[in-house]
Amino acid sequence: MRLVVMASGNGTDLQSIIDAIEAGYIKAQIIGVVSDKKEAYALERAKKHGIPAYCLRKKELKENFFKELLSLLESLNPDGIILAGFLTILSEEIVERFPNKIINIHPSLIPAFCGKGFYGMRVHQAVYDYGVKYTGCTVHFVDKGTDTGPIILQEVVKIEEHDTPESIAKKVLEVEHKVLPYAVKLFVEGKLKVEGRRVKVLDKEDL
Ligand code: GAR
Repeated sequence: MRLVVMASGNGTDLQSIIDAIEAGYIKAQIIGVVSDKKEAYALERAKKHGIPAYCLRKKELKENFFKELLSLLESLNPDGIILAGFLTILSEEIVERFPNKIINIHPSLIPAFCGKGFYGMRVHQAVYDYGVKYTGCTVHFVDKGTDTGPIILQEVVKIEEHDTPESIAKKVLEVEHKVLPYAVKLFVEGKLKVEGRRVKVLDKEDL
């Protein structure tokens, strides 16, 4: 399986997939890492592992951004696309071109703290401000909505009295680094069956 990973920032989620591939846990190849930010450390991580790194800057490309992104993705022709901290919401055209082939990780328990404007630290700050006792992360297929696609896996993280938005982010990210490689492994092995909004996971293991 040939995968493209898209990331906007530090790229620790990308790293968790690279490590899982290099350890033989996921039997796939990353054929490209795509970022919308020049300064994304994810691009350096790709280069360090001999993976082609592509940067399409939204600021420069403006209204041509999605056209350029679609043509890059079409030329790479991946079997799957993983959004690992990619903070631009994809155009409908891109989503339609890769049905049930785009996977996103979101740092909350969807449908809470998700949708437009909820990304990265903003999610953890909102979780903290609301005072919920549990948060977590969600891996889902991408559909035309924002964070609305069929859910593949979710994992819960308990919030303690002494937690801060930063410590919540750290705990959630640690869990993401287990959940995301596992979801990608299931996808690569053809063990995810989408039935409407429900995703059946064949041979589910405990993490
Ligand atoms: C992760 O927490 C991921 O869930 C989040 O961005 C972070 C990326 O971390 N994604 C979103 O908020 C998408 N809405 P990383 O750059 O260290 O991989």
